Amino acid sequence: MIVDYNIISEIYDNHRSYGHSEIVQLIRFGEISTKTKILDLGCGTGNLSAQLLKYIPVDTIGIDKSLHMLEIASKKSLNVLCGDADHTILPFKDDSFDLVIGAFVIHHIKNRMALIRECFRILNDGALILLTCSHDQIENLHPVIKDFFPSLVELDKQRFPELTELDDSFQSAGFNRIKHEDLIISRIPIDMNYLDKVKNKFISTFHLLSEDEFKAGVEKLEAFIKSNKETAYRNWRGTMIYGKKHQPDESPSRIADSDFSTFVSKEHTSSVSGLLSEAYHHLKPGAPMPASYPKVRLLPAP
Ligand SMILES: C[S@@+](CC[C@H](N)C(=O)[O-])C[C@H]1O[C@@H](n2cnc3c(N)ncnc32)[C@H](O)[C@@H]1O
Repeated sequence: MIVDYNIISEIYDNHRSYGHSEIVQLIRFGEISTKTKILDLGCGTGNLSAQLLKYIPVDTIGIDKSLHMLEIASKKSLNVLCGDADHTILPFKDDSFDLVIGAFVIHHIKNRMALIRECFRILNDGALILLTCSHDQIENLHPVIKDFFPSLVELDKQRFPELTELDDSFQSAGFNRIKHEDLIISRIPIDMNYLDKVKNKFISTFHLLSEDEFKAGVEKLEAFIKSNKETAYRNWRGTMIYGKKHQPDESPSRIADSDFSTFVSKEHTSSVSGLLSEAYHHLKPGAPMPASYPKVRLLPAP
């Protein structure tokens, strides 16, 4: 079963978000600076970019195949393009970005190798980061799946690639300095608020279950929450995978955590406008789609 993000866009945006610790971790892991030009691959409603921009004024463009997800993203003043990342060509020139971030999108992609190669092509000296879950994390490190929705373990393991597959693809595409780091969200309160998120199927996984199994799991979770005198807290873990396009001579410049307080939330600058007008060049709104980008459409820039 395929999750239709056009149908769940509002629920997704209401129930999914990135918190302080994930963004700080991502900035450090990705060596993100104010000069980093970022493609947010499978950006959805722009949750990641919008949150990142509160910490550091980078230039971002998002691409996603769901128009309804993008409509929400564009209301957050993000630059977004509608395009299918499974199409073999991403609508950008070589060397366009310093960083491509694909957050929880790779499990939706059929031809992962082709996409990872495309990311390599559109990067300059930069890096690709994928956020995903390993099979071990699906099985053992999700707050509720194993205990309350056990058949999801196998279903999710079928759709999420193992990390070794992704490492091999990164390597075949030419990436080096490949590294992993756990993305940890600790002390998630398993309470009525969390139950509400689950009832709203806030992660696409829940759409894969039969309604009967989903209902049974929700009832079991609700009984668990009500039986606890004090709120139970659980952790969640994902994985960030990083690959660098070129091997730099000098050691990477890192931003110390203490620097974050100096970043102010402000409108991102306009150096992405060149990239957007490049895309416009091929994709004038309303004009017939060029044959080479049959599934790509540009949303109005904010
Ligand atoms: C789980 S959501 C993640 C959204 C966003 N990255 C975030 O972290 O909130 C997966 C997103 O991938 C998008 N997606 C799935 N397949 C895609 C494809 N072939 N090309 C572009 N986007 C795709 C979906 O439309 C959806 O917005």
